Amino acid sequence: MVSKTFAILFGAIFFLLFSADAQQLKQKPIAEYISYSSVPGYFLQDLNTTNTTTFDFVATNFGLINQTYPADAQFDPTGQKSQWERFANQVFRLNLQSPSNVQYKVLFIGRHGEGYHNAAETYFGTPAWNCYYAQLDGNATVTWFDAHLTANGISQAQTVNSLWARLISTQNITTPQSYYVSPLTRCLQTANISFSGLSLPASYPFVPEVRELLREGIDIHTCDSRSNLTYIKASFPGYSIEPGFTEFDLLFRQSTSETTTAQNLRSKTILDQLFSTDGNTVLSLTTHSGEGASLLSVLGHIPFSLATGAVIPVLVEAVTNSGSPPVTTVLPYTSQIVCNQPPVTSQATGTCVCSSGSTIPTGEARRLA
Ligand SMILES: *[C@@H]1O[C@H](CO)[C@@H](O)[C@H](O)[C@H]1NC(C)=O
Ligand SMILES: *[C@@H]1O[C@H](CO)[C@@H](O)[C@H](O)[C@H]1NC(C)=O
Ligand SMILES: *[C@@H]1O[C@H](CO)[C@@H](O)[C@H](O)[C@H]1NC(C)=O
Ligand SMILES: *[C@@H]1O[C@H](CO)[C@@H](O)[C@H](O)[C@H]1NC(C)=O
Ligand SMILES: *[C@@H]1O[C@H](CO)[C@@H](O)[C@H](O)[C@H]1NC(C)=O
Ligand SMILES: *[C@@H]1O[C@H](CO)[C@@H](O)[C@H](O)[C@H]1NC(C)=O
Ligand SMILES: *[C@@H]1O[C@H](CO)[C@@H](O)[C@H](O)[C@H]1NC(C)=O
Repeated sequence: MVSKTFAILFGAIFFLLFSADAQQLKQKPIAEYISYSSVPGYFLQDLNTTNTTTFDFVATNFGLINQTYPADAQFDPTGQKSQWERFANQVFRLNLQSPSNVQYKVLFIGRHGEGYHNAAETYFGTPAWNCYYAQLDGNATVTWFDAHLTANGISQAQTVNSLWARLISTQNITTPQSYYVSPLTRCLQTANISFSGLSLPASYPFVPEVRELLREGIDIHTCDSRSNLTYIKASFPGYSIEPGFTEFDLLFRQSTSETTTAQNLRSKTILDQLFSTDGNTVLSLTTHSGEGASLLSVLGHIPFSLATGAVIPVLVEAVTNSGSPPVTTVLPYTSQIVCNQPPVTSQATGTCVCSSGSTIPTGEARRLA
């Protein structure tokens, strides 16, 4: 009970600190807040008729719909430009014509390639993974603490790299002008491989910034705890580290998990930071399935489940409103129920049976990796 109260208090303080941060960044004396919406009509992934399970971002040109835009008439009267060049011009026009409190950005939201924790979850089964194995650092042969990419995960990131290379050479796609990456190793690796060896504009090199708030759902799974800063700097020397990034992971939990509402507040906080401080239009965010889903939710995008290694662009309209933001309810971190020994699992029923005989519904130990 005491530790739960402490956890709730700690969670509240964490969010107060970050929301205070977001407000300071804007440095405006009057109250204002940003609201987001995803602009439909440009990408297949925005349509509720698109099957997210079978959607193939590689085969579909990152989902960009073939069409003409209002801005084409002036920009490409003879129809010489590629779809991506005309899309970039269309977004440029949208920004040019919008009131000063409205901005448009294209976010490439990517999930890391398959990590050892993904393979282990498949191997043990999700109920057993959630209620027991995910709390271990690994087993005798595999480590899933701050999981690294498997060979398959590396290959998925290489697929993304090939897609960028092809779209740069065939369509002159506008590559990201800013790169942000979760501090978990699988994302640091995914970004490295995805953007390696591309002919990027000299003014927009691949120098990703490591952002604590882009990490996966904060919980009791060791795969979602990060390595120390010394390790990150030594392993990814070209990356930039956000100010205030701590040496050790202070957010990982031993017994409680971030709720969806708490995670969405975290996602809103980082989006506010990016939209208030980054003047670029095309941003790349390398993150996780759970955090990707949370970002999409805050952006007002339809639910879209990212497969390992998947990347989807989203055209975002951000409106800065004056006044106080609408009140949202943020639920405190919740305790997790787990087994103390390897469980006897029953995947068919979606529950985890502890060796003591107690049964844990798999939903109790929520896992979004
Ligand atoms: C899909 O979107 C259309 C219009 O955007 C809406 O009318 C329809 O109800 C949506 N369908 C579902 C299943 O959500
Ligand atoms: C999406 O595709 C999968 C795999 O083919 C299929 O099982 C599922 O029913 C489809 N979902 C919808 C909503 O059509
Ligand atoms: C979109 O246009 C490209 C280039 O003209 C073409 O190769 C591709 O097949 C088109 N895609 C669809 C879905 O029509
Ligand atoms: C460790 O877990 C992996 C699942 O990722 C499995 O393939 C391997 O056989 C396990 N090793 C041992 C010693 O149980
Ligand atoms: C590629 O696009 C950029 C900006 O979108 C433009 O400045 C450049 O001229 C284009 N390059 C080619 C070869 O079309
Ligand atoms: C990827 O990491 C390797 C090994 O640290 C490094 O040599 C390479 O420059 C990195 N590439 C990029 C694009 O960050
Ligand atoms: C930092 O992380 C590395 C890699 O996980 C580890 O070897 C090292 O001991 C850690 N340093 C400290 C001070 O914990």
